[in-house]
Amino acid sequence: METSVVIVAAGSGKRMGAGKNKVWLSLQHKPIFQHTVEVFANHPGIAEIVLVINEQDYQEMEKWCKRMPHSIILEIGGAERQDSVRNGLHALSDSCTHVLIHDAARPFITHEQITNIIEKVKDQQAVVMAVPVKDTIKVVGPDGIVKATPARESLWAVQTPQAFPLSLVKDAHRYAQEHNKTGTDDAMLVEMLGHAVSIVDGSYENIKITTPDDLWLGEEIMKRRLEERKRKR
Ligand code: CTP
Ligand code: MG
Repeated sequence: METSVVIVAAGSGKRMGAGKNKVWLSLQHKPIFQHTVEVFANHPGIAEIVLVINEQDYQEMEKWCKRMPHSIILEIGGAERQDSVRNGLHALSDSCTHVLIHDAARPFITHEQITNIIEKVKDQQAVVMAVPVKDTIKVVGPDGIVKATPARESLWAVQTPQAFPLSLVKDAHRYAQEHNKTGTDDAMLVEMLGHAVSIVDGSYENIKITTPDDLWLGEEIMKRRLEERKRKR
């Protein structure tokens, strides 16, 4: 088993409204994507890191990679996240058997969570990190009328990383492309092939930096973690 990671950073960050790709924004004086990449780079269970980026970010990213102590493979993304992931999967080495797919915009993933998902994908075909939803979720029609209230115990908010055997997730992406299907996450494409997907515990801190208020929350989480680390030293 050789496990690698595809980290997707090729979005534009429209909802952040920063006028540039949000992954370049800093948390505690370091770009968001760098925090994310470092967690995987420091994990001994990860063989290769593919970072999927925008064409316009390429030069800047190349410079950044040269300053990093780890080797990182850069790949250009596509119009949708699904296209970016597919490009990333094709950049992995032939020796790779399993892959973790992760959003660069989720910098709070931990070493321990990576260990857990790698362990789990050894005997489960597809694994997604998830947390139980805290709110009551309602299904609402286009007329604004509530249609249903699913039992909360059955509802999980799904995050990344998501882990798969490489051949399975490549098949799922190929199927989606050939049949013009889109999924809101990679697991959904694997579900379309009829494969079971398991969950592994995530954390409520594993947020995706999406809107400006996430930056404020992100700063607080990062600051607390850095202080904890200092105290332990
Ligand atoms: N992503 C990507 N390629 C795309 C779109 C998104 O690699 N074409 C990446 C983003 O960089 C991010 C992750 O997928 O790390 C999750 O997507 P999201 O949070 O939606 O980021 P953006 O698409 O950049 O933001 P927005 O939807 O607000 O424009
Ligand atoms: Mg998006």
